[in-house]
Amino acid sequence: MKILLLGSGGREHALAWKIAQSPKVDKLFIAPGNPGTAEVGENIAISVNDFEALKRFALDNDVQMVVVGPEDPLVNGIYDAFKNDPQTVHIPVIGPSHKGAMLEGSKDFAKAFMARHNIPTARYLTVTAQNIDEGEAFLEKLKAPYVLKADGLCAGKGVLILSTLEQAKSELHKMLGGMFGNASASVVVEEFLCGTECSVFILTDGKDYRILPEAKDYKRIGEHDTGLNTGGMGSVSPVPFATPEWMQKVENQIIRPTVEGLAAEGIDYKGFIFFGLINVSGEPMVIEYNCRMGDPETESVMLRLKSDLVDLFEGVAQGNLSSREIVFDPRAAVSVMLVSGGYPQEYQKGYPISGLEAIEGSILFHSGTTLNGRQLVTNGGRVLAVSSYGENRSKALQRSFETANAIQFSGKYFRRDIGQDL
Ligand code: AMP
Ligand code: GLY
Repeated sequence: MKILLLGSGGREHALAWKIAQSPKVDKLFIAPGNPGTAEVGENIAISVNDFEALKRFALDNDVQMVVVGPEDPLVNGIYDAFKNDPQTVHIPVIGPSHKGAMLEGSKDFAKAFMARHNIPTARYLTVTAQNIDEGEAFLEKLKAPYVLKADGLCAGKGVLILSTLEQAKSELHKMLGGMFGNASASVVVEEFLCGTECSVFILTDGKDYRILPEAKDYKRIGEHDTGLNTGGMGSVSPVPFATPEWMQKVENQIIRPTVEGLAAEGIDYKGFIFFGLINVSGEPMVIEYNCRMGDPETESVMLRLKSDLVDLFEGVAQGNLSSREIVFDPRAAVSVMLVSGGYPQEYQKGYPISGLEAIEGSILFHSGTTLNGRQLVTNGGRVLAVSSYGENRSKALQRSFETANAIQFSGKYFRRDIGQDL
């Protein structure tokens, strides 16, 4: 079969790496892809949001499945664009409908959905210009720190955590006043939850689901979780506190009610769901939903998936996921992100990357790289995800750190404490 994968980051390189291993795949296209995805498929210079060009390409090239990496095209309705066009209705899109993607596209929608289905999450109030007084009164009832979330997509930047009530009120006004443009015209104010986070992923065909290996990601730039938030500095899988008993609670209290809730509300959802969970005194609660895989979680989770990912995708597309098997690799997997000096603030691009020839024992996923002639150069804040297997987490980490040291580019930085808090 011919598959078209959308996206251009480390997540997409990891998905492409896994898809390309499937005996069911004759040809993999990636739009727009990166130098890493070009090693396992053919990059196509089309933007993930240019639905007309993607449909034309899929038809002209006999594409039989579209797999969507990032949230943007999903929230913009790529699933519906293919489904509602008689010419492309036969091409399954792995990803939710526009309505389903609202689990990520609108925090207010996600919170109200969880409330309707009794899914454990922090107490909240949605505030707009119309009920600021009520919003302030709600803040007064909460204890510090205070959590404010822009309702809409903000490329991971729309959440503020404030330590005083005065700051929280003042930032609430600024958010409603357009701090994140239209995305913060509504703000979800919520109770702060204290615990350790864990990312859980499923694939669903709308009726049944398969749970993928869980992972923990490391969001802050500095070691021991200090400094600014980033797109993610590394990930590990498995997560020790995600025991079978804990995962059973996650399945019973969160996963099943979510899938059944979507079906009961008539929301078309055939794709990944990413549950951003927090373990509060042994009880899993939902921090957020995403309508796609995580980055950099995918760069460790794909290593732990032994089954054929394309077989699972076929189950999603055909609505018979219940007949497909999911098998995990018993080894641990980790991913350590090499980033540009200065990231997540200002940084330079275009530095030559060297040392890749001698890499053994790790798998490199390209995140922000490009080719300058034949020279691979840095092209983003997050540059390369260094993923490794190990018989346990520390062995896997040791491999990734050795590889991370062997790769050179000007300003290279990575966190040496990934996985050490567990
Ligand atoms: P989100 O974009 O919703 O994942 O929020 C970004 C980050 O903010 C999360 O990964 C958490 O670390 C933190 N966060 C969000 N909501 C809460 C909450 N209610 N309590 C504690 N931390 C939170
Ligand atoms: N790693 C978190 C995310 O992908 O949103």
